[in-house]
Amino acid sequence: MSFSKTIIITGGAGFIGSHVVRLFVQKYTHYHIINVDKLTYAGNLENIQDIDGAPNYTFERIDIADSTAVQTLFKKYSIDGVIHLAAESHVDRSITNPMDFVVTNVIGTVNLLNAAKEAWKSTGMEGKRFYHVSTDEVYGSLHDGSFFLETTSYDPQSPYSASKASSDHFVRAYGNTYALPIVLTNCSNNYGPNQFPEKLIPLFIHNIKNNRPLPVYGKGENIRDWLFVVDHARAIDEVFHKGKNGETYNIGGHNEWTNIDLIRLLCSLMDRKLNRATGTSEKLITYVTDRAGHDFRYAIDATKIKNELGWIPSVTFEQGLESTIDWYLENENWLQHITSGDYLTYYDKQYNNR
Ligand code: NAD
Ligand code: DAU
Repeated sequence: MSFSKTIIITGGAGFIGSHVVRLFVQKYTHYHIINVDKLTYAGNLENIQDIDGAPNYTFERIDIADSTAVQTLFKKYSIDGVIHLAAESHVDRSITNPMDFVVTNVIGTVNLLNAAKEAWKSTGMEGKRFYHVSTDEVYGSLHDGSFFLETTSYDPQSPYSASKASSDHFVRAYGNTYALPIVLTNCSNNYGPNQFPEKLIPLFIHNIKNNRPLPVYGKGENIRDWLFVVDHARAIDEVFHKGKNGETYNIGGHNEWTNIDLIRLLCSLMDRKLNRATGTSEKLITYVTDRAGHDFRYAIDATKIKNELGWIPSVTFEQGLESTIDWYLENENWLQHITSGDYLTYYDKQYNNR
């Protein structure tokens, strides 16, 4: 088959990446989409089994920290664009094991930048694009009523956000030094189907269902700005196709919740879904020692992407949260495969026999 573009999406077996891969494979059937993923504990090919076998989709199991493997990949395919999501993404893991975050988030990103720079030196940069997906956590922790703008100074507070900030700096440096056509986005907290159940919302849905304690860090007063993952994928599509080279766009839901209010809402929705008496799930709330260096508040000002690219979220929080809960309740197998470790065998079963 001949395709109009070949695009690498890294981290496509993860939470957000799987939604981006699905959107691109289904919407742009004239693009060849190559999903590049190491399949760490967070990579789950079951997230995208519905598009496995699509004629414009290829999976490559590659560790982006392996520079030789990344260079070989860029020689194997004639790449027009990179949408880079692969990362170690969980703050708590970055506190116990920061070096994994340096290796994947910093070195892995620089390997991709080097490979793109080398490949595009010979073809020319025209029509090429390196899109780096980052986080609002690089801006640090808010303690007043202000919002993160694209111009807000970086002030990362956790090993995770420090590694993402470092990778952002490298991406911008390659844009400036080598004229690499780069674009970046910094997004707020995502929620939705296929999120690994170590993150707040899927973990708490799982625990409520199984009558397990809900470990609220500190007093539960920290604030996050929640966005439905499908809306993040839509924003990535807009920025990849219409964003200006060298620019950064903030993405967020204008949807701030203290953790404890969000958890109470989740408890009441779960009581209704599980036909439990009102107040049953709230009894599972257990206050535990706070996360070390816990950022207080994140809040994105998404005016730029709205004004320049016309992107706004398509679903309300109520719609998104309700459909997310329904998804986890209806996809018991997905969660069960994670708990049993079965999801880790998908690659061997599906790919090693091809
Ligand atoms: P995730 O942890 O669910 O998925 C990460 C994916 O990257 C996994 O499939 C994993 O196997 C892969 N990966 C990890 N190390 C790799 C390596 N060395 N080589 C190749 N692949 C590797 O993450 P997510 O929550 O989907 O986040 C995706 C991206 O979006 C990250 O860059 C993250 O910083 C950013 N982000 C996340 C959020 C959020 O709320 N989850 C918000 C803003 C930005
Ligand atoms: O803001 C974007 C970021 O959002 C992304 O860059 C990260 O990849 C993503 O993991 C997320 O980071 P957070 O640390 O905000 O997400 P998490 O789901 O881990 O926690 C959300 C809030 O809930 C946070 O204030 C910590 C709290 N929390 C979390 C867990 C897992 C609890 O109180 N108890 C818990 O068990």
